[in-house]
Amino acid sequence: MHFSEFEGKIVLITGAAGGFGSALCSAFAENGAVVHGTDVRKADIKHFHTGDIGDAAFLKRMVDSIVQESGTIDILINNAGICPRVPFDRITLDEWQKVLHVNLTSIFVLSQLVLPRFIENKQGAIVNLASLAGQVGGIAVGAHYSASKAAIQSLTKTLARIGGPHGVRVNAAAPGIIDTAITREAAPGQIVEFERTIPLQRLGRAQEVVAPILFLASDAASYITGATLDINGGLRMN
Ligand SMILES: NC(=O)c1ccc[n+]([C@@H]2O[C@H](COP(=O)([O-])OP(=O)(O)OC[C@H]3O[C@@H](n4cnc5c(N)ncnc54)[C@H](O)[C@@H]3O)[C@@H](O)[C@H]2O)c1
Repeated sequence: MHFSEFEGKIVLITGAAGGFGSALCSAFAENGAVVHGTDVRKADIKHFHTGDIGDAAFLKRMVDSIVQESGTIDILINNAGICPRVPFDRITLDEWQKVLHVNLTSIFVLSQLVLPRFIENKQGAIVNLASLAGQVGGIAVGAHYSASKAAIQSLTKTLARIGGPHGVRVNAAAPGIIDTAITREAAPGQIVEFERTIPLQRLGRAQEVVAPILFLASDAASYITGATLDINGGLRMN
């Protein structure tokens, strides 16, 4: 899939060292975008900002430095997230707050920093990583994770309402069970059962998450905003 409109666009991707994040960085770069990645872990990306997205001061410094260096930001992909698999009765208040802070509050903080620029520029797109777990509830993945992902869908709609009149689009992508190291480690005995239950009869591949995210950020999705795109092989149908 080639999107010529990404040529020269400034794209900021969080969680850039992770499974989807690194694939997203490569895909946007292959389409000619200037990719800025951020993560707590080091990643081999030309414009890389090491830091904790839970740290609001770091996010402000990073956005300011990107704007100073590149002039603006055109696309924001809020992809970073943590998914501690803890049974409901063993989630401590600290863990609850940490997951909400990293997964959800970071999107609020980054959006507050970036959205006014998008509105001023009368263009821009944000894509937030939600999850099937946020739509159906999470037992294996933890109540804090699924609650944070459900809230991301709501925040996406609010941001879409704010940005819409100014030509700024905000959408979410909700992957289901994707064939990543994390999925296989967390549920080694359940893969066959998953494959039997999913209408497409297999787990998703990382590239099958990346392509729809590029689509949502592209001009091909110019009349789509406030939406959550399900990427789940039919496991949950609206
Ligand atoms: N993998 C799946 O099956 C799946 C399914 C549904 C939704 N998702 C969502 O997609 C997104 C990416 O998933 P992934 O599979 O690539 O996960 P991943 O663990 O490979 O990548 C997440 C990245 O976020 C970074 N990160 C975590 N906490 C951070 C912090 N405080 N500051 C900065 N960076 C931080 C990690 O270092 C990591 O590189 C996540 O939001 C996840 O919830 C994944």
